[in-house]
Amino acid sequence: MILKTLPIIADEFNLQNYDEVYKQFDWSDAERAFSWFETGKLNLAYEAIDRHANTSKKNKVALYYKDDERNEKYTFKEVQQQTNKAANVLKDVADIKKGDRVFIFMPRSPELYFALIGAIKLGAIVGPLFEAFMEGAVRDRLLDSEAKAIVTTPELLSRVPVKDLPHLQYIFLVGENIEEKDKCYDLNKRMKEADRQFDIVWVERTDGLTLHYTSGSTGKPKGVLHVHNAMIQHYQTVKWVLDMKEEDVYWCTADPGWVTGTAYGVFGPWLTGTSIVVAGGRFKPESWYKIIEEFGVTVWYSAPTAFRMLMGAGDEIVKRFDLSSLRHVLSVGEPLNPEVIRWGMKVFERRIHDTWWMTETGAQLICNYPCLEIKPGSMGKPIPGVKAAIVDDQGRELPPYRMGNLAIKKGWPAMMATIWNNQQKYDSYFLKGDWYVSGDSAYMDQDGYFWFQGRVDDVIMTSGERVGPFEVESKLVEHPAVAEAGVIGKPDPVRGEIIKAFIALRDGYEPTEQLIEDIRQFVKLGLASHAAPREIEFRDKLPKTRSGKIMRRVLKAWELDLPAGDLSSMED
Ligand code: PRX
Repeated sequence: MILKTLPIIADEFNLQNYDEVYKQFDWSDAERAFSWFETGKLNLAYEAIDRHANTSKKNKVALYYKDDERNEKYTFKEVQQQTNKAANVLKDVADIKKGDRVFIFMPRSPELYFALIGAIKLGAIVGPLFEAFMEGAVRDRLLDSEAKAIVTTPELLSRVPVKDLPHLQYIFLVGENIEEKDKCYDLNKRMKEADRQFDIVWVERTDGLTLHYTSGSTGKPKGVLHVHNAMIQHYQTVKWVLDMKEEDVYWCTADPGWVTGTAYGVFGPWLTGTSIVVAGGRFKPESWYKIIEEFGVTVWYSAPTAFRMLMGAGDEIVKRFDLSSLRHVLSVGEPLNPEVIRWGMKVFERRIHDTWWMTETGAQLICNYPCLEIKPGSMGKPIPGVKAAIVDDQGRELPPYRMGNLAIKKGWPAMMATIWNNQQKYDSYFLKGDWYVSGDSAYMDQDGYFWFQGRVDDVIMTSGERVGPFEVESKLVEHPAVAEAGVIGKPDPVRGEIIKAFIALRDGYEPTEQLIEDIRQFVKLGLASHAAPREIEFRDKLPKTRSGKIMRRVLKAWELDLPAGDLSSMED
């Protein structure tokens, strides 16, 4: 098979000339990079792995994996074989077919990546779950999506409420000494016995690929469905924004439980045939710098909270490691402070490039490029093929420097296809004139750079993780002592925001330190540790509208000592 290179225009863009490419680029220009452009046979997993495994890249390392116990590497050929085996097991044991939902709930390990790509080879829709999720969070997601199978570990199995999940028929366990009983199967054992060959299931561009659940300000988490067509933008942005070259070694610190960990942790880099590093285990400044040194990481994609924690750990640590391999550093998920960029210049001698996008957008949209000047504090400019604007609530474009809704003209390749089981929610993202409205407020300057100002809604961003206040409030009121709860994001110098809960207690309960700890644990164990409020304040009564909705806006004003604004809808 002939692999066409990208049109020249893209290569030139890598070096310079944003304005010209922005004017000329059309998404159909990017399609030539894929083998389906010639063959008509399409599946992201094929483009990411098999295509390379069938060329001279077959012996190139696709995956370096390291944690406290394991240090392994796999070539594209080996990943092809392992993912074929995973696909065969999912097919033979669980009869997984195109469109079936397969969830993956486990800590990072090579098996996670094999199962992910293996399921995609079958045309299944994969729901990756962050290992920190507790039973309630797992139940919501598996129920809503009617998942048929899950890949998990014996340790995490107790958080999968199998009895409550009538559609869940197959549980694949990754671990030692697995006993195959009930609905459980030993994935490693089955993979050892499975065939290394597999005929990929070809799909349409519009067929489902991943289902990432994410939080809004109301209701349960929503399942954002992405489709195979997203690969076009994954590929193109990895070239343009991540500036990936053949010899690069790339490390994305995000877990596949978040969209960054799939789109830019796996899909994008493998589509471009890049060697990726996956590090298991917890965040520690020393081990992070060690990863860069040991693997010679050249392109590094992380998040503001992580950079702020590294900054907090001090410059002395940095000097103990050889980080000279680093060529390009990027950030996503929260506002990147100018101070962090200045620190990056000092310790890495590299600019940190901010990128803006969302779970719903499926891929990067507004970015700082190697070829562009960086204005610290700005998210950068839209990628070619994407029109971004600031619009008012009626969808009218606003002039530079006016604050409003950050909106994107519908129709970029990676845009979500739907919200699972919730067309109404999906429709609510769009305004007249086909504007996708992000929920972020921002302004644009006279040079076309976008500046993030905040969320329009009450969504909380803590350590780069998106938490819906409603979800936390719902969990809080399940606690026997809690009568009412209102949850807000409180600004924090390291984590961006922390979760603060205002609570009115039921009669007979006293506000004690012990109770605070007990409530915190309750959320931690019921939802996830990152969703547990770091601060809890007790009040006799919470501000509510006449219809009984907690007014978070007023709580925030209390907290920050700001005017509370219009209180006409508040109950007496
Ligand atoms: O508020 C914006 C913030 O993260 C939100 C999207 O969160 P999530 O879907 O979890 O995706 C995060 C990673 C793709 C946005 O609505 N956000 C994301 N990137 C930035 C940002 N805020 C400021 N600057 C950014 N670069």
